[in-house]
Amino acid sequence: MVVSRLRSEVRKQLKENGHEADWIISHVTGMSQSDFIMHPREVTDDEMRKIKDIITRRNSGEPLQYILGYTEFMGLTFKVNELTLIPRQDTETLVETVVTRIGHDHVRVLDIGTGSGCIGISIAKLCPNAEVTLLDYSDAILAVARENAEHNGVDVKLMRCDILEEIPTGEYDLIVSNPPYIETETIFSLDNIVSSYEPPEALDGGFDGLMFYHRIVEDVAKKILTEDGAIAFEIGYTQGDAVSEILHEEDFSNIKVLRDPCGNDRVVTARLKPALFS
Ligand SMILES: C[S@@+](CC[C@H](N)C(=O)[O-])C[C@H]1O[C@@H](n2cnc3c(N)ncnc32)[C@H](O)[C@@H]1O
Repeated sequence: MVVSRLRSEVRKQLKENGHEADWIISHVTGMSQSDFIMHPREVTDDEMRKIKDIITRRNSGEPLQYILGYTEFMGLTFKVNELTLIPRQDTETLVETVVTRIGHDHVRVLDIGTGSGCIGISIAKLCPNAEVTLLDYSDAILAVARENAEHNGVDVKLMRCDILEEIPTGEYDLIVSNPPYIETETIFSLDNIVSSYEPPEALDGGFDGLMFYHRIVEDVAKKILTEDGAIAFEIGYTQGDAVSEILHEEDFSNIKVLRDPCGNDRVVTARLKPALFS
């Protein structure tokens, strides 16, 4: 079948995920979207078989990012697997906020709950003088982050630490984190993709969704942040007031809730003393 006809066939078969057709065809054939138009060719039987397999898995609800094994975030490519959350576009708001404030400064950044490494690696890529440490609780997750750091050509440190049990070593100017923030009982009522495929450990923020914010702000931050250190959190869109209150209670100042491009509260920043987020 010639690629132009295949595109409309794949779109139809993918139903509500029809917008993913070009990504799948490009992945399997190695053709770019402009090749589809400028240099169309017949798709081989082997390629057809692979495309059909992907459509079957996709139609059973498996996220395309897990089927293909990678995704795009901040214009970079990140490997993902069943141990790592699929990086969300929402999270780009956190990275953009941090990168804008850091610029070319020499800042020691700790990315708590790094998963694929998408936040810390993007910061390291865009802020050439940032010294970034990626933290997660398991070696297997950190192995994915390490691969992504190498693939994207950045030099980062890795730290295995269960943040609920231990205090990370080192001193930092900035903690950045997209921690698990979904209320425990909500997780299994989320749509199929999230509840069936993504790791619950990446989502479960305790009964009220705020467990990691409490732990990081109340027990961790002051032990590892410099005097004028700062925090930048991703939050669920209803958590702005609650996370601000947690920071306020611990005497953080200049607490700001920032919105994502859809207008939802998405990021909270705060500082210990005037500096980064003044
Ligand atoms: C919401 S995911 C964020 C992943 C990635 N930073 C992103 O934005 O796509 C939360 C991350 O926290 C990690 N995590 C969960 N419990 C943890 C713990 N006790 N200590 C350290 N990391 C933890 C998970 O493994 C997961 O990678």
